[in-house]
Amino acid sequence: MTPFEIVLILFLLLVALSIVWSTLQTGISPMMSSGKACRAMLAETENPLVRPLIDLGSGWGTLVIMAARQYPNQQVIGYELSWLPWLVSVIRKYCLRLDNLTLYRKDFMTTELSSDAILCCYLYPGGMVALEAKLKREQLNGTLIVSNTFALPSSQPTKVIRLDDVYQTPIYVYHWPSK
Ligand SMILES: C[S@@+](CC[C@H](N)C(=O)[O-])C[C@H]1O[C@@H](n2cnc3c(N)ncnc32)[C@H](O)[C@@H]1O
Repeated sequence: MTPFEIVLILFLLLVALSIVWSTLQTGISPMMSSGKACRAMLAETENPLVRPLIDLGSGWGTLVIMAARQYPNQQVIGYELSWLPWLVSVIRKYCLRLDNLTLYRKDFMTTELSSDAILCCYLYPGGMVALEAKLKREQLNGTLIVSNTFALPSSQPTKVIRLDDVYQTPIYVYHWPSK
């Protein structure tokens, strides 16, 4: 094996370990929303978008980049804990010159969320329990929440869309505070 191959293998191992570590830390892998899911989620936001859109766990930047390109005059924000997906999303942001996109390497659970924002997410059941508790704690009012696949456990969605895919993936829409 050449030194180059050894370095490459070590690098790939580090990348794999970092993704496993962040998955254990956050409870979900940085799996991307499909193009269909992103389009359906953005269609449920406002058009034109008149308030910031925040992706809670922005992964590789799939949804935030689509949003920032679609709404160049609106602020789009992503919070992501896993360093590799975050780094890739930052590189994509600079390559695409998306000045309206801000990407924080930060836990959104420890960040105060604004009522005047649209919140998007693709988390997991435990993450939705924690998010619902946070929404209640921070007494957000008038917030629009769009969630891919997972529902808030004890809130009534305003709307549920089923994607035309093999899983009939649900997209949940909430106007918070919901019933
Ligand atoms: C399934 S991915 C979704 C990525 C992106 N939103 C999309 O739709 O393509 C969920 C992401 O949320 C991140 N995440 C989970 N909990 C988080 C937290 N408390 N703060 C920041 N990121 C978090 C994970 O690291 C993961 O990358």
